[in-house]
Amino acid sequence: MALQDGYLDELTARSDIADVVGSYVNLNKRSGSNLFGLCPFHGEKTPSFSVSPEKQIYHCFGCGKGGGVINFIMEIEGLSFMDAVAFLAKRAGMPPPDDGTPNEVKNKRARLLELNKEAARFYYEMLSQPEGKAAVAYMEKRKITRPVAIRFGLGAAPDGWDYLLKAMRGKGFTEKEMFEAGLIKKSSKGSFYDTFRNRLMFPVIDVRGSVLGFSGRALGDNEPKYLNSPDTPVFNKSRNLFAINLAKKCQDGRFILCEGNVDVVSLHQAGFTGAVASLGTSLTQDQARLLSRYTDQIVLAYDGDNAGIKAAQRAIGIFEQVGMKVRVLRITGAKDPDEYIHSYGAAAFAQLLDDSPNQVDYQLAQIRARFQLEDEKSRVAYLNEAADFLSKRSNAVEREVYANRIAQETGISADAILLEAKKRSSRKAKQDKKKAERELMRPAQAIQPSGHELRYSDVVSAAAEEGIIRLLLLDPSLSPMTDVLGAEDFSSPFLYKAFRIVKKRIQENASLTPASLCNELEPQEAQHMSAVLQKPERASEAQRAMGDYMEKLKTQRLRRQGRLNPGALADLYRNKKGYGEH
Ligand code: CTP
Ligand code: MN
Repeated sequence: MALQDGYLDELTARSDIADVVGSYVNLNKRSGSNLFGLCPFHGEKTPSFSVSPEKQIYHCFGCGKGGGVINFIMEIEGLSFMDAVAFLAKRAGMPPPDDGTPNEVKNKRARLLELNKEAARFYYEMLSQPEGKAAVAYMEKRKITRPVAIRFGLGAAPDGWDYLLKAMRGKGFTEKEMFEAGLIKKSSKGSFYDTFRNRLMFPVIDVRGSVLGFSGRALGDNEPKYLNSPDTPVFNKSRNLFAINLAKKCQDGRFILCEGNVDVVSLHQAGFTGAVASLGTSLTQDQARLLSRYTDQIVLAYDGDNAGIKAAQRAIGIFEQVGMKVRVLRITGAKDPDEYIHSYGAAAFAQLLDDSPNQVDYQLAQIRARFQLEDEKSRVAYLNEAADFLSKRSNAVEREVYANRIAQETGISADAILLEAKKRSSRKAKQDKKKAERELMRPAQAIQPSGHELRYSDVVSAAAEEGIIRLLLLDPSLSPMTDVLGAEDFSSPFLYKAFRIVKKRIQENASLTPASLCNELEPQEAQHMSAVLQKPERASEAQRAMGDYMEKLKTQRLRRQGRLNPGALADLYRNKKGYGEH
């Protein structure tokens, strides 16, 4: 990234985090110098989402999300770093950033999108050629009508090795470009051939209307059933959804997540225009967030087999995290939405949607299915699990409704069930509080970052490394003490990177705030940094604490290097006496 020097500092200075966050979240509680509100990134009823106007960072004690104002916009608007910067610049009345993307790269992306559009056009035109006959016959068999095929831009990949290759060459595209777009592959002999052959083609189109890639469905039983474009500079399977370009216009807010593209097409055809499908990968957070921009309700239309049930359980969790209400479709008498609609009609399917249980009903039913309610022992076990499940729901009305339902099934009073649920949730709350208190004390061990790449290999050292960064932000005059530290003293490459950024900013006399540090980190790093910086350090004891942390780094380094023999240990303890540890 090649933003002009000082641009980000000015942008963050002009985008007060309390203002920006305040336009999304009601920050109506205050505790110390922090503002609190309900976290927009996970469902909760008591505010654990904090904003520090002083540090210009936010941090949720519930879900762990956090960072500076740019990270907040990235997260809540689902934008890339540069897009979030542009978004805030507009808001702050600043000139748009020069994103530093070389023109070459921009041109290449534009070129690949152009190529994809031409390819989509080619596949579409094949539908009216003899080469597209098999695909047309397949559409007829699946009862896909012509107008719907046009709406989706469906097409036919002919049964041959180089139809597309030749056509695109004729349009002035190079093999290199076609290869980069995933439209052709390279044989072991080095010659190129069409990726998609003898398939019904579904272009994957984003919300702006660009063709990002394709999935091609086999016309018979051949495998794979769906072949998708590989990830390319313009296509990422885990960030896009098939038919989102159409579903985003759906008025009734009834979004339906299906497995197969044919199901999606068939649902749209029957008037359910909120249907989308993921592209052969399991649901991701990015996809859930994409959907949550348009609706807060989603119906899962996964298969009823074991894999489908598992996928639904997982998807419920992901959708709840972005604050969406989830229902789960229960299809009987057909294997999927497509088959159901063709057998029973659209009205019956609409009824099915209305009848589909919400996430709580669904999950309770899943729990219930594992027990025999006639058997007393099993019934008690079910009650315990159900109470445990209820205890995790934050809505009191919801808990009451379900307790009543469970009471009816089991003949145990709703009050007893609620009491049990309450016991469990207050036990959990106590545990959480203790844990939070423990974390607030200067920790002997650092809390592991959630991202796998950031994992601490030495939590004892990492706690001290974190402390050094906090202290430098608090009191940059301590910086000379840390001049001796090098990469080998840090157990965490991520914390070393943060340390280097801080040192560089001190050297250059640049602004040194938690937010300016977060600006230079990757989103996941910024998120963890917000948790790190949330912990208090006392200015009055900063120098002494810095000494302790430096000492800790040294011992841990020796320990890691296996050089901590009893003699060295004794030396260290002697030196340490002044600090009063142990
Ligand atoms: N899938 C995929 N790529 C896509 C869409 C779906 O790999 N772009 C995968 C899904 O992960 C799932 C399967 O294909 O495993 C979906 O198949 P199914 O629902 O059976 O698709 P349909 O086209 O509806 O098949 P059928 O003819 O059996 O109704
Ligand atoms: Mn199907």
